[in-house]
Amino acid sequence: MKFFVDTANLDQIAEAQDLGILDGVTTNPSLMAKEGISGEANVLKHYKDICNLVEGDVSAEVISTDFESMIKEGEALAQIDDKIVVKVPMIKEGVKAIRWFSDQGIKTNCTLVFSAGQAILAAKAGATYLSPFIGRVDDINWDGMELIEQISSIYTIQGFDTEILAASIRNPLHIVKAAEAGADVCTCPLNSILGLLNHPLTDIGLAKFLADHKKSGN
Ligand code: E4P
Repeated sequence: MKFFVDTANLDQIAEAQDLGILDGVTTNPSLMAKEGISGEANVLKHYKDICNLVEGDVSAEVISTDFESMIKEGEALAQIDDKIVVKVPMIKEGVKAIRWFSDQGIKTNCTLVFSAGQAILAAKAGATYLSPFIGRVDDINWDGMELIEQISSIYTIQGFDTEILAASIRNPLHIVKAAEAGADVCTCPLNSILGLLNHPLTDIGLAKFLADHKKSGN
């Protein structure tokens, strides 16, 4: 499973890259706004800065909701760097745009996915990645992980190439469960990735090893 970090914060992206386990980055308009990035030139520059920090794919989301504007915006984003993946919402115009980008060889990430039916449409349109939002499904008392399992099963049976990118990850257990459910990629906040490190027995064991080493006079 690939690991993406889900942030537009350059320090966090650099920290995740430094760990040596990072395969890419996802952003969205809310994450860009959180970093105070606004205005077309600043947005494009920020995406370029992210691309310069990482090796893998960088998802950059369109703001437009009609086909023509999505194409124009997505083309400008794709020109920033080969790493850019154009992120497109799961709406009717978005499906048409994904088909168009796919035919041009431009990578896409279909976002705001909450059902298996939407997952089928995105795959048929040729999406590179599909982003089911696990945490937001859990928030309304449904089971986000069941959605990943269902999509994974459908994609396997049907032979779809679209990669399942588990999104809206809220904690380390979501990452483990998404891996188990068949996600190809997990995009996670940095603290969820770092949370995977934690186990009290590791801390206790390391403290004992170091104490014993000191006692032995080394
Ligand atoms: C990533 O691609 C999504 O935009 C993001 O994971 C959404 O996460 P949230 O539900 O925590 O906002």
